[in-house]
Amino acid sequence: MSNQAKRVVLVSRPVGEPKASDFRIEDYALPTPGEGQVLLRTIWLSLDPYMRGRMSEGPSYAAPVPVGGVMEGGTVCEVIASNNPSFAKGDIVLARAGWQTHALSDGKDLRKVDPKLGPVSTAVGVLGMPGMTAYTGLLDIGKPQPGETVVVAAASGAVGSAVGQIARIKGARAVGIAGGKDKCDYVKRELGFDDCLDHRDPDLAAKLKEACPKGIDVYFENVGGAVFEAVFPLLNDFARVPVCGLIAQYNDTEPSVPKWASSLMRAVLTKRLTIRGFIVRDFAARHPDFQRDMSQWVREGKVKYREFVTEGIDSAPGAFMGLLKGANFGKQLVRVGPDKA
Ligand SMILES: NC(=O)c1ccc[n+]([C@@H]2O[C@H](COP(=O)([O-])OP(=O)(O)OC[C@H]3O[C@@H](n4cnc5c(N)ncnc54)[C@H](OP(=O)(O)O)[C@@H]3O)[C@@H](O)[C@H]2O)c1
Repeated sequence: MSNQAKRVVLVSRPVGEPKASDFRIEDYALPTPGEGQVLLRTIWLSLDPYMRGRMSEGPSYAAPVPVGGVMEGGTVCEVIASNNPSFAKGDIVLARAGWQTHALSDGKDLRKVDPKLGPVSTAVGVLGMPGMTAYTGLLDIGKPQPGETVVVAAASGAVGSAVGQIARIKGARAVGIAGGKDKCDYVKRELGFDDCLDHRDPDLAAKLKEACPKGIDVYFENVGGAVFEAVFPLLNDFARVPVCGLIAQYNDTEPSVPKWASSLMRAVLTKRLTIRGFIVRDFAARHPDFQRDMSQWVREGKVKYREFVTEGIDSAPGAFMGLLKGANFGKQLVRVGPDKA
């Protein structure tokens, strides 16, 4: 085993879009586990939009990565040395090792992954945080009813793809919004959404109206910006809007006041809208329900997923910058090391 390890650290806080120079790839010596610790080898690194928030200072629900610190992230790792009786060499675990090839852990933040349940990469995808986000945001806040219309953007991505498929399982109509024809075709043909529209289409608002003849009962908000503008007038009385993410705004440098802002509270009142933000960990108590339902739906082929993989830890900054612009087609993963499971 080589004693060289590699990691990606944050060099500067981006202004607007992150650039390659905001990251540095550096070598470090393979750490040695102390008393009670395990040494982890990263197999899969999950890249997620929330990481843009961790690169910036300012009020948020989580502390930023310090300048000079290793970029944060969820990982699937193999235990390659253990001084902890709860973990054996060869165990596959869900960890938060971050953007690095190896890490130490005292075991408290690890959860064993059973490779018999499916590809271990799904522990950071459809059967992990993004899947749980879709499940809880849609079912606990959106509460779709049979025959209702559910709209979701970033519809070919990790969260959005699951949202539309769960909506269909619950008997609702699912209308996706995604970037480009290939993604829209996939969302309709492979994932079984009732319709999917391109958010770059200048006629998005008119096409959305056509695709939602009975209005919108649940809008699962992943992006904000121009998509929300198109959705907002179509919301029905008593519509629910789980606010999951605002990716169209993550690189904004100035707060902007959109033209619909003044009518928002009026619509909340007159249409009796429910608009509720959430962070997936708010619903931690629902994890057993999520695991039971989602693993069954995946096994039965009712929920399909797609992974978008780049190779090697060096690819992480580029892949992350691409994710913020829609270069990914499916759950963005980095294969940091071989997956032998
Ligand atoms: N609240 C929570 O706890 C929680 C947890 C996980 C994720 N999230 C949020 O959920 C959302 C989706 O995350 P994900 O992990 O599933 O990512 P993803 O959808 O796999 O990837 C991000 C996608 O966002 C779309 N996008 C980027 N800029 C856009 C824009 N200006 N307008 C419309 N779409 C745009 C791109 O897809 P297109 O090519 O289709 O445009 C891109 O592929 C993000 O907002 C994320 O922050 C929230």
